[in-house]
Amino acid sequence: MTTLEALDQAVLWHPFTQMAEWDPLVIASGDGNFLVDTQGRRYLDGVSSLWCNVHGHRHPRLDAALRAQLERLAHSTFLGLTHEPGIRLAAELLEVAPRGLTRVFYSDSGSTAVEIALKQSFQYWQLVGRPTKQRFLRLGDAYHGDTLGAVGVGGIDVFHRIFGPLLVQSIRIPSPAGTDGSASLAAVEAALGNADEIAAFIVEPLIQGAAGMLVHPPGYLRAVAELCRRHSVHLIVDEVATGFGRTGTLFACEREDVSPDFLCLAKGITGGYLPLAATLATEEVFGAFLGARSEMRHFFHGHTYTANPLACAVGLESLRLLRDSTLANAQARIADLELVLSRLARSPKVKEVRSCGLMIGIELVDEGAGLTACHRAREHGVLLRPLGDVVVWMPPLTLQADELVLLETATLASL
Ligand SMILES: Cc1ncc(COP(=O)(O)O)c(C=O)c1O
Repeated sequence: MTTLEALDQAVLWHPFTQMAEWDPLVIASGDGNFLVDTQGRRYLDGVSSLWCNVHGHRHPRLDAALRAQLERLAHSTFLGLTHEPGIRLAAELLEVAPRGLTRVFYSDSGSTAVEIALKQSFQYWQLVGRPTKQRFLRLGDAYHGDTLGAVGVGGIDVFHRIFGPLLVQSIRIPSPAGTDGSASLAAVEAALGNADEIAAFIVEPLIQGAAGMLVHPPGYLRAVAELCRRHSVHLIVDEVATGFGRTGTLFACEREDVSPDFLCLAKGITGGYLPLAATLATEEVFGAFLGARSEMRHFFHGHTYTANPLACAVGLESLRLLRDSTLANAQARIADLELVLSRLARSPKVKEVRSCGLMIGIELVDEGAGLTACHRAREHGVLLRPLGDVVVWMPPLTLQADELVLLETATLASL
């Protein structure tokens, strides 16, 4: 064991990790779609560094944007002050976001983006004189992050059950994944019979990532949006995983022509460089919070590093890069995937392959085989991380055709 590995073992506690079985792999550098460990071994970053890398590592344009901002300002608060990268990124986000979203509230992670949407929706209804609208609808197997508010609208038993007593209880709607969606929509409609008590419905659009890449039937999101609108219940769309080109369009909402009341963004917002998140809201929501300072209508929420200028500067360049070339590359790879995934699905080790754009779940026949397969993939030059029995592919959107071949051969060899 190297000195760094031993020191890690001695001082660290890693997320979502059984530390009693922890075997460190120390990453020293990044190079395009690859990560390099301290021994100089190269690995394709098959899960985009936990689903956030968009353009590969050390992209010259992102590096330059970050350096240029560093020459000016690393951080100043967004509470009572503002700065150019924060302003410009918000303006460009709103240009490309679903229509109707006009305001950007920054934070630092997907979980905080969700907390903010929940709190803003809740406070909105208090402010407009509908104080009984306090509850949230969410899907079975939903995942919206690990802070308590986000866990309260989560539905993954193995992650969330233990914290039950701490949570605001939400109303579960069965996930439409694997069905035609009609039973789930009927449950939404029934729950909305009590719309006077419901603030919002929060959904991951098109695909539930952390649940194991569960794909929704086409039209489901649009139908949910229509039901929410009809019953005056906010729709919160959590595009933390699907946003920034991941499903083949800039946002998954575009695929169903849906304009939510809140849009939660994080992960890919900085191309995977720095922690940043944004909760986008409509002018109607924003307007309800306006008044004289003494009325105390404003939103009492903020984090120290909200709108960090380095993160915003990289985010701005990342968005431009996506539109210049990366989105087109992702679309080309998505087109190549069909054949690759049909080959994988024929493996006797594979139970089912599910995908939406460059979010892919390969469910294995053998229970508990996911972690072993992902560990073996390292020997074949690919870094993967499973969700239970599901091997996840979530490569950078700059994935090249030969790298897709590597992903396939390494995965098949590891199975
Ligand atoms: C849909 C969705 N929402 C929220 C989150 C939480 O984001 P973060 O880990 O940045 O808090 C995730 C993370 O995987 C996610 O997939």
